[in-house]
Amino acid sequence: MTSKIWGGRFSAGPSSVMEEINVSIAFDQRLAKQDVRGSRAHCAMLVAQGIISKDDGEAIQGGLTRIEKDIAGGTMHFRRALEDVHMNIESRLSDLIGLPAGRLHTARSRNDQVATDFRMWVRAAIDTLDEELEKLQSVLMDKAESEAATIMPGFTHLQAAQPVTFGHHLMAYVEMFGRDRSRFKDARARLNECPLGAGAIAGTSFPIDRHLTAEKLDFDRPMANSMDAVSDRDFAIDFLAAAAVLATHMSRLAEEMVLWASAQFGFIAFTDAFSTGSSMMPQKRNPDAAELVRGKAGRVFGALTTLLTVMKGLPLTYSKDMQEDKEAVFGAFDTLELCLAATTGMIVDMKPRRDRMKASASAGFTTATDLADWVTRVLGVPFRESHHITGRIVALAEQKGCGLAQLPLADMQSVEPRITQDVFNVLTVEASAASRTSFGGTAPANVIAAVASGRERFLKKGRKS
Ligand code: ARG
Repeated sequence: MTSKIWGGRFSAGPSSVMEEINVSIAFDQRLAKQDVRGSRAHCAMLVAQGIISKDDGEAIQGGLTRIEKDIAGGTMHFRRALEDVHMNIESRLSDLIGLPAGRLHTARSRNDQVATDFRMWVRAAIDTLDEELEKLQSVLMDKAESEAATIMPGFTHLQAAQPVTFGHHLMAYVEMFGRDRSRFKDARARLNECPLGAGAIAGTSFPIDRHLTAEKLDFDRPMANSMDAVSDRDFAIDFLAAAAVLATHMSRLAEEMVLWASAQFGFIAFTDAFSTGSSMMPQKRNPDAAELVRGKAGRVFGALTTLLTVMKGLPLTYSKDMQEDKEAVFGAFDTLELCLAATTGMIVDMKPRRDRMKASASAGFTTATDLADWVTRVLGVPFRESHHITGRIVALAEQKGCGLAQLPLADMQSVEPRITQDVFNVLTVEASAASRTSFGGTAPANVIAAVASGRERFLKKGRKS
């Protein structure tokens, strides 16, 4: 059987493999709500412009209301033979209301239709992710507040560098997720132009009002160029690029949770809710959720690469290759939602082991910079030289198998005779962290202030995590 929608010049139906490669309804039915909404706006505009009659317009809107209900109730029956979501809905409309259904596609093509539906879908996806990211930031800030004075080692090269506070470390991710939200927001602002009315490629000879359609669909304006409107997918690429950065951030946090939860670090413990056992080794508590958040980042990067590759060689305007855009975006969105839920859950669940963090913060001469700073500040020695003096003192402590705070004053004076007892005030990990009060520094007081300002900057008023 030929398609009743486009089969006019065809006499035979497609081969089964043609149908198999062409059909998109299995995934693009996720655009059904947007498709109906777009049709409603288009129909209202056609009536307002006197392009179709009021009666036909009412019949169409009535039919679309029923379809909307079926979609919401999950009772809409999508048929493979009808290829995609647009033709499924149009065909259902025609079953419901007969002839007037055929007038809906006046001055419209599936090319501008799909571009419009997809923009609306991505726009809603961004709004959803924004909510979920805000929630994640909120629980991170709650944790940061309760761990504002918890001392842990800060690492560079995964070597203990300087004592930091756990709250400060968590707040670093609050900033990253804040930028992720702003990247999505930028993408949303750029995508919010309406393709509908571009027709298949060239616009239309009907006296349509694209501004009205755009307004009805909450777009800022119609897209300026009909060829651009039907053929670009940069809005989806923008979305996936922001998604890839977010996935990177979640993956780094996940990697840290994996490290922290190991017996060797022992900085955090997950409850049973976020641990899994081993089928062979009874002692194991594995942080599988964190590993999967880390692992699933690959899917999101893959989606970005997929769409860039799909688009890079396409001449203007629409080519069917572009149907491949949807699964990449849907898949990335689903992955992000799951990873955000898991990350938020793990942050709430994790129990910091303050004793372990503090003990680890003291190992590895992490207050060496404090010693060098003291030599510069108190003795007026240029920092480069203080660095050298401190290096020799560290070597001495290493030889004696003790920490800097335990090294006798006499030993320090053997390297620099002017060092006094006062130096010990800066050599504890607590003193070190507390002294880092410069803007953006790790001091507990800074963390408390950062949490307060973070809540102001990132959370809707009255949000309680
Ligand atoms: N299912 C198609 C897609 O997702 C809709 C647009 C079809 N347009 C066309 N000229 N065949 O890209």
